[in-house]
Amino acid sequence: MSSRITKAVIPVAGLGTRFLPATKAMPKEMLPVVDKPAIQYVVEEAVAAGLTDVLMITGRNKNALENHFDRVGELEATLERKGDTEKLEKVNYSTDLADVHYVRQGDPKGLGHAVLRAAMHVGREPFAVLLGDDIIDSRDVLLSRMIEVQGKKHASVIALLEVEPEAAQLYGIATVEATAEADVVRITGLVEKPAPGTQLSNFAIIGRYVLQPDVFDVLEKTEPGKGGEIQLTDALQVLASQNIAGGVYGVVFRGRRYDTGDRLDYLKAVVRLAADREDLGPPLLDWLREWLPTR
Ligand code: UTP
Repeated sequence: MSSRITKAVIPVAGLGTRFLPATKAMPKEMLPVVDKPAIQYVVEEAVAAGLTDVLMITGRNKNALENHFDRVGELEATLERKGDTEKLEKVNYSTDLADVHYVRQGDPKGLGHAVLRAAMHVGREPFAVLLGDDIIDSRDVLLSRMIEVQGKKHASVIALLEVEPEAAQLYGIATVEATAEADVVRITGLVEKPAPGTQLSNFAIIGRYVLQPDVFDVLEKTEPGKGGEIQLTDALQVLASQNIAGGVYGVVFRGRRYDTGDRLDYLKAVVRLAADREDLGPPLLDWLREWLPTR
């Protein structure tokens, strides 16, 4: 794995309107998935891929996020007094996980706009972007493979998932050319959320990117696109079509991914991850087996 990339940017400034009212006063990235907020899975994934410098692009309601990755004196003291080292470890784990920095987005003008806010912190080096509401199962490899491909191609790399044609309108969609490696494709074009039936492929962009810093120069000039938002997909389309800084490659992911910003996917993530846990899985599955036939 290339060790050149050390910085992860995690945008968490979206309004999370699909999850209202839960997200009225709390970012969707703080919703618990079993017993950890979604954002902790994402930071753990970045750290596991060697990225220990984490920049979160925050918006309103950032306090809960900051507090989660900071010390909580009163809680720690209480657990210490009780001698509850197991819970104390859980509390301290997220504090010590990574070197977390924050920058505000101000107005949530889109994912591209959020990523551009990272320009100063990142400087002129390749960096990763992980969407804070997208969880990749820690048993499946994605980010470290993308970093490896970035190191070989000296290009930007996006993660792709093959989706059903009906779902294409929910994603950025990529047209691709095969390469010599089965899981790597070259991106020839990108369209954000194509109208139903107009998508040119089933390759959907999911929330992991390893980008050349040149994307910042393009984002500076990117006008609002779909939904009136400054779209990262539009900037990547410029990198791909003009072959800027090596163009864009895709790593095709065939593992488990959970979109916790979508209510149904969120529920599936909680059940699937809990079902796989040693402590919760057996009683949960027993109950589900009993309960499902009564539906
Ligand atoms: P989404 O489109 O899923 O987020 O953005 P959203 O706008 O919050 O969702 P809904 O549709 O209203 O429910 C993907 C990621 O980009 C971040 C979000 O926090 C999420 O992690 N984002 C989006 C920003 O940081 N800033 C933005 O302006 C938009």
